[in-house]
Amino acid sequence: MHDTLLLFGATGDLAARQLFPSLLHLLRDRLLPEDFRIVAVARHAYDDEAFRAWLGERLAGIENGAEVRAELLRRTEYVAVDLSQPEAIAQTLRGYADGHRCVSYLATPPYLFVPIAQGLKGAGLLEEPSRLVLEKPIGSDLESARAINAALGACLGEDRIFRIDHYLGKAAVQNLLALRFGNTLLEAVWHHRWIESVDILVAETAGVDGRESYYADYGALRDMVQNHVLQLLCLIAMEPPASLDAAVLRDEKLKVLRALRPFRADSVLADSVRGRYEAGLVDGEPVRGFSLQAVQGREPVETFVALRASIDNWRWAGVPFRLCTGKRLAERVTQVVVTFRPTSHWLFEKPRRERATPNRLVLRLQPQENVELELMSSLAGPEWGALELQALPLDLSMPTVQRRIAYERLLLDALNGNSTLFVRSDEVEAAWTWIDSIIAAWREAETPILPYMAGSWGPAAAANFLPQAPARTLGAQ
Ligand code: BG6
Repeated sequence: MHDTLLLFGATGDLAARQLFPSLLHLLRDRLLPEDFRIVAVARHAYDDEAFRAWLGERLAGIENGAEVRAELLRRTEYVAVDLSQPEAIAQTLRGYADGHRCVSYLATPPYLFVPIAQGLKGAGLLEEPSRLVLEKPIGSDLESARAINAALGACLGEDRIFRIDHYLGKAAVQNLLALRFGNTLLEAVWHHRWIESVDILVAETAGVDGRESYYADYGALRDMVQNHVLQLLCLIAMEPPASLDAAVLRDEKLKVLRALRPFRADSVLADSVRGRYEAGLVDGEPVRGFSLQAVQGREPVETFVALRASIDNWRWAGVPFRLCTGKRLAERVTQVVVTFRPTSHWLFEKPRRERATPNRLVLRLQPQENVELELMSSLAGPEWGALELQALPLDLSMPTVQRRIAYERLLLDALNGNSTLFVRSDEVEAAWTWIDSIIAAWREAETPILPYMAGSWGPAAAANFLPQAPARTLGAQ
């Protein structure tokens, strides 16, 4: 395992909210090497003591005991350098690797990836077996993603580049692999012959407050669909990999991305909905709308997107994948709903065939994790007469295990050199290829961005893109 983490963007939000707390937990659980150390790198003119004081305050709210926190701070040193200047980085950091195995984590905006990597290379910090970890987004379209991938490729080998999609670090997302490939029952029916549609919903109650500037360049499609939603889709749709080896698994995900049918201007209006939230009530609290003023001069972006995607391959021919994500929606819920085809013949009067609920597999990932298989059953009671069927869930609620931050798993994997849960350059590029087709079709068809009230389920036009889920899954629609 590598023993030194160089954390770029150490004073940023991600570092403070996710990365340092994850490191704290790993340290508490003794999962880091004995001599593990952190070199925090950012532009701010802190020295070691000032940075430790800042970090100590940010970590104060975490219930871990003062001892682990003090240990984490003791193991952390701080380096101030302009992250856009490769020479300055090279000069400042030269010598940091001596006797250490380093992982450099770039928790920075993408425009800094290349200068930092070049600086690290100049400092001799990308030599074997060093590794580089990158946060999403990798670029903002295919062209910029390719440029970043090519420039990084000139600094170190692809096998030592770890691109994070934190959804892959979530235990519930990994459970998709377990369910799909550990169960004969599902293996047998995971096919267009038995599956009618798939719905992937990532609904957030949070808005974009405080991130307007980043968001104005991205919008929901680039911020959420290009990465998290497509990764979920890949795990649902990929062919069974022969093993969980990183290359094998990623090859299968790549095939799915490449089979996604590009969007076209003449059908994009029927196959997608874009929305932008306006002021409303979320959890009973009034919230502001996504302000147009904050993004003046830039192409308007959506805070809600719904898409009907098609995967053109043997397994999924004709099966719609409805993808939906948005900010400031009525509930925070991430779920995948797999709807099966009706039985080939129907015997019952109550309900009549056309009113019968199809079998559904509901995989809920957030906020609670559980899996439900909805089956038609007649459990109404012993009265004589016609059987009356209703959809009842077989509920597999996850045992309460210790919840881990997704980044804990990913940090540990990066330190251990296991890249199975990281995204390869060709996956990133294939995802952008598809996303670019949607943006081009939107432009050509002048697709409107429809307003919706914060706290609702998005624009009314998107109703058909949301799964008709049981009341406890999705609240009032
Ligand atoms: C991030 C997006 O990648 O994922 C955010 O940039 C989004 O806009 C977040 O809120 C959602 O992550 P999670 O783990 O809270 O579902």
